[in-house]
Amino acid sequence: MDLLIVGAGFFGLTIAERAAAAGRKVVVIDKRAHIGGNAYSEADPETGIEIHRYGAHLFHTSNPSVWEYVNRFTTFTSYTHRVYSTHDGVVYPLPINLGTINQFFRAAYTPDEARALIKQQSGEFDSERAVNLEEKGIALIGRPLFEAFIRDYTAKQWQTDARDLPAEIISRLPVRYTYDNRYFNDTWEGLPTDGYTAWLERMVEHPNIEVRLSTDFFDASQSLNKQSVVGQVPVVYTGAVDRYFDYSEGELSWRTLDFEREVLDVGDFQGTSVMNYPDADVPYTRIHEFKHFHPERADRYPTDRTVIVREYSRFATAKDEPYYPVNAGRDREKLLAYRELTKIEPQVHFGGRLGTYQYLDMHMAIGSALSMWKNQLA
Ligand code: FDA
Repeated sequence: MDLLIVGAGFFGLTIAERAAAAGRKVVVIDKRAHIGGNAYSEADPETGIEIHRYGAHLFHTSNPSVWEYVNRFTTFTSYTHRVYSTHDGVVYPLPINLGTINQFFRAAYTPDEARALIKQQSGEFDSERAVNLEEKGIALIGRPLFEAFIRDYTAKQWQTDARDLPAEIISRLPVRYTYDNRYFNDTWEGLPTDGYTAWLERMVEHPNIEVRLSTDFFDASQSLNKQSVVGQVPVVYTGAVDRYFDYSEGELSWRTLDFEREVLDVGDFQGTSVMNYPDADVPYTRIHEFKHFHPERADRYPTDRTVIVREYSRFATAKDEPYYPVNAGRDREKLLAYRELTKIEPQVHFGGRLGTYQYLDMHMAIGSALSMWKNQLA
């Protein structure tokens, strides 16, 4: 073995694939029973509809090297992501655009008129001086739109009133003065034609790659554990950085999600893949209806049943899956201390979202793995 990779998410698998193609013998271990990390998807056992076990994953990128790289393993459908929001019993398009504004104010504003209105409404607070998230949000888009679409949604995500959240959680709230409601601005987007798992499996289809699942790097009873390997073989570590150092600088905090899956006896529940619920009286933040991610599979999916997943957000405890870094002031101090420790760890390369305590989209995880391969490992 020339290289041990801890974690079979997109970061780890990209390094594995590159290393194997360059003739190195690689072992990838993952404590879960499947490859793919959080991008893993599977067929729903009751309906056969592809569901994303760790939350909906839409691929998008403007990075030509990443786009070229991922197309070696999969083709992509022409799916274009759009999100809607049910506020006070009415459905609006997101991100906030001219359609949202005109529907909300029951008006027919031109782009310039809408711009002037939002400018006037956002004058209530100065964005630079905002002391909490509520003031910041109002300073960015005005009180009516902030209260309708952002305030309670964010409060549900953080289980904290917007007045008690720091202003820095949002730096900008995009408002489009056109009717364009494409969710992503990237050059390329789509979903892997035959699913994420088929894509991920093709990445490790190489005689130089061995994958060991249900194998925890910190389990001393399995042979490729931290004590036995570090210093002997180069390691790419994509698990949690605080766990690696036995939480010596304290635990980094995360938000997690709870998913509530339900199979319904209707052909179509909501007519779209994602519906946000920004109001305080609805406990969940959004509902995914997975069949809408693949309209091209209509002839293979049931026409009289559908599967929906309600998503709830909360702070993670030690037992939960870590999803989004909280990144509060204390977390940043701890992270700096961990970064110092990573510099002196022999032959261990820390990467991926857990290893760097960073939210990374898939294209960012793949892009940063390609850079690590080229600059540090190749
Ligand atoms: P990832 O977490 O995928 O993989 C790390 C692996 O390491 C895991 O499999 C874990 O089990 C393993 N591991 C950890 N500790 C270990 C140990 N001690 N021993 C062995 N193995 C260990 N991105 C995007 O582009 N579009 C989208 O729509 C979304 N949507 C989305 C929704 C939600 C809810 C989340 C949380 C995230 C997204 N993402 C996303 C981001 C996407 O999930 C992210 O880019 C990738 O998971 C990053 O891949 P990594 O390999 O860095 O981590």
